[in-house]
Amino acid sequence: MTASQKTITIIGSLNTDLVTHTPRVPTGGETLTATSFSTGGGGKGANQAVACARLSRPRGSVSSDIAVKMVGGVGADEFGPPHIEAMKKDGIDTSGIRVVWGQTTGVAVILVETGSGENRILLNPGANYTLQPEDFLTSESLGTPKPDLIIMQLEIPLETVLQILKTAKQAGVNVLLNPAPAVRLPDEAYEAITHLILNETEAAILSGRSVEEVEADGFEWQGLAIEFLKKGVRNVVITLGAKGAYYATEERSGYVMAEKVEKVVDTTAAGDTFVGAYAVSIARKGGQEQIDDIVKFSCRAAGRTVERQGAQSAIPWADEVTGMAA
Ligand code: ADP
Ligand code: NA
Repeated sequence: MTASQKTITIIGSLNTDLVTHTPRVPTGGETLTATSFSTGGGGKGANQAVACARLSRPRGSVSSDIAVKMVGGVGADEFGPPHIEAMKKDGIDTSGIRVVWGQTTGVAVILVETGSGENRILLNPGANYTLQPEDFLTSESLGTPKPDLIIMQLEIPLETVLQILKTAKQAGVNVLLNPAPAVRLPDEAYEAITHLILNETEAAILSGRSVEEVEADGFEWQGLAIEFLKKGVRNVVITLGAKGAYYATEERSGYVMAEKVEKVVDTTAAGDTFVGAYAVSIARKGGQEQIDDIVKFSCRAAGRTVERQGAQSAIPWADEVTGMAA
């Protein structure tokens, strides 16, 4: 790490996606032949780390003004170590990923029904659940020197996330939380969140609304965002799928349109790409004054991801997204 380099630390999940494609999903007791099978790196933590790394440098470049560090756990099995190697190739510091004996790597068993396009996913968290609150009691446990930004999701134990929020607040470290999969959070958690980035479903769950209510035509996001701001969040960004994103801070708010995409191939990791693009921009620019430009850049980056198949394999490099160079 060089003196001028900023550090983004992602504390979260690493999964291996096991993906089968089938014209229809089997019923109980039935065996069907799949039309294809593939494996790939996944997990919201790992995806967001890859997004931060790629969006902070052009493809093929090893150096960057942003150091990206991943903290998490994998099993000592056939999935974990290769995933770590792949992340190293993207320039990610993987020294904070532990290989846990006697645990399996987190896996997502995904059945894609090609007819309907619907996914059915079974997630086994495995080593992701070995991250304990006791591991994050001190400011030093967040890394030395202190990271400029910590990114978390909710695919590790909730108590661990809540402890990290507490420690980060005491240490004065900014946190970006992407609360997925969503659960209601205690009020004190919000005071430690600098950036809250969530999709419509997650916004409904965290705010205690029904998904139908927020998805209704003409729903006003402002009122909901203000509730989070009142609880202490500094920046709220709600991603709205093909409709783009809405952002709100104390001083400003607005809607940003989604990138026009020729063909939507697979929206997996679109939200993760958005988070990575946003985090890299925040680490560089910091201020709320640029939030409109930052959200626009994040929408453009996420637009590239939906044009391609897969999770980590679909995430673009900085030179594939216009605007917001280093
Ligand atoms: P998640 O993937 O977490 O469910 P969203 O569906 O809200 O999150 O997508 C995140 C971002 O990805 C959106 O804000 C948007 O910029 C981009 N995106 C998603 N779907 C599309 C689409 N069909 N066309 C263009 N951009 C999209
Ligand atoms: Na994709």
